This record gives sequence, structure tokens and C-alpha cells, in this order.
Amino acid sequence: MSSHKTSRNVSLATLQNIKQRGEKFACLTAYDACFASILSETGVEVLLVGDSLGMVLQGHDSTLPVTMDDMIYHTQCVKRGNKGALLMADLPFMSYASETQTLENAAALMRVGAHMVKLEGGAWISNTTKLLAERGIPVCAHMGLTPQSVNRIGGFHVQGRDTGQAQLIIEEAQLLQESGANILLLECVPRKLAKTITELLEIPVIGIGAGPDTTAQIMVLHDVLGVSPITPKFVKNFLNDSDNGIPGAIKAYVKAVKEQTFPAEEHCFR
Ligand code: KIV
Repeated sequence: MSSHKTSRNVSLATLQNIKQRGEKFACLTAYDACFASILSETGVEVLLVGDSLGMVLQGHDSTLPVTMDDMIYHTQCVKRGNKGALLMADLPFMSYASETQTLENAAALMRVGAHMVKLEGGAWISNTTKLLAERGIPVCAHMGLTPQSVNRIGGFHVQGRDTGQAQLIIEEAQLLQESGANILLLECVPRKLAKTITELLEIPVIGIGAGPDTTAQIMVLHDVLGVSPITPKFVKNFLNDSDNGIPGAIKAYVKAVKEQTFPAEEHCFR
């Protein structure tokens, strides 16, 4: 068993303490009970039931077709296998378009075992974040590349490369923290921008394709295991060098995140 084994229930306070100690925590997506069990027993602190399931499980070319029923089903599965990790669940595309819808859908995920919800966007989700926070639902705000907006963005591209766009992301991240977000997730932004935001914010910042300076890293499980059809620059296959199959790969990922050997320079955007 890993020396990083999650020995007790991970809470937001646990993550905040890790940040304050200047350490890192490891997150992965999970969609079923079996993997939830392996991941949480191997020391992954946060399991995300991501709407990436639309691409890696269902075979769609985006996350847009994922429904609330899909998210509820997979959150139930992950909850059954989870051994103490914090369980985050995505609010899928168009499930937080109105206040009533947001509250009903977030409540549905919390009722089946999520500890917090994740939603994508910038300034426009600040009222939604406040609404959820005031009603006791912890929020992770997902910024940078937001896959639910892929048609507006025009593809899965790195965000925040020019100064104006970077400044906007910084300001919106601060706004979302002020609105009550408990965690910020930054996807596909230049390393320098992620570092600036991580240093500015009090809440933990989880990165994916955002370099090694964020408080935590997250990857899509299928990418860590090398079974995704595409391999973006920021992805590393940890199964290739594993001497103990899947548990060995997960253990290596957790260790690399904590020892800050992943992501390496070759996984970063400038
Ligand atoms: O849905 C998902 O898996 C995600 C990760 C890419 C962070 O949002």
C-alpha cells in the first residue's frame, strides 16, 4: 500500500491545510466504484466525477451531451467505492443556466454523495457560486479552457496566452474566490499565469495543463492509464513504467504530484 494512503476522510479543511504547509495534493477523475476504491486507497485526495465521462466513457467528441442523469448515476457509483477522498461532481452543460435549475441539480448531486460541485465559467458564474455557497454547497470554479464552451472557444485551445486575456482570467479568479468558491480549477493555461493566480488566491488551485506551481494536479484517469484516443501535451502515461499494473500507475502519479516531478517542463504551456 502507498505511503501516501488516504487514512481519513479528506475535507476542504484538509486541502487548505495541505496548501498552507506548501505541499501538493493529487486529484483524478473517477467514474465507477472499482476505480474509486483503488484511487482513494492509493492516496488520491480528490475524486472528480467529471463530465469528461461523455468523451472517455460514452465516446462523444465533447462533454455537451452529458446529462444530469449520467452525472447522478456515476456519482452514486463512485460514492460506493470511495474510501475517504473528497468527492467532487461536475454540473454538466446547461444544468446551471437558471437559479432554480442550479439549486435543484447541485442538490441532486449532493444527495447522492458528492461533497462539492464543479461548474465552468468566469465572471458570469459568480452569482451562481454565491447562491450555492450561501446554501452550504461547496463550489469548485473551473476556468481557463472550459470544455462546455468548446463551440464558443473554437476548439480545445490553451487560454490566457495574451496579456489582456491573462489579466481577465486573474480578475475573474479573484471574483470567484470573493463570491465563495472553495477551489479554483485551471485548465490549459500558461505555467506563469497559473503560478500568479495560485500565489494571489487563498483557496487551493488545481491545475491540468497549467504547470507544476498550482496547489494540486488533476488528470483524466484514462490519460494516466494511456487509454485515451488522444494524448495532449500535458498528459503523461503512468502505466507504461508501472511495476504493479494500475495501482502502481496511480501510486506513481500521486508520488510525482507530491514530489513535484509531474508536470515536468515538457507538459507545460508557455
Ligand atoms: O470533466 C473533467 O474530467 C474535468 C477535468 C478535465 C478537470 O473537468
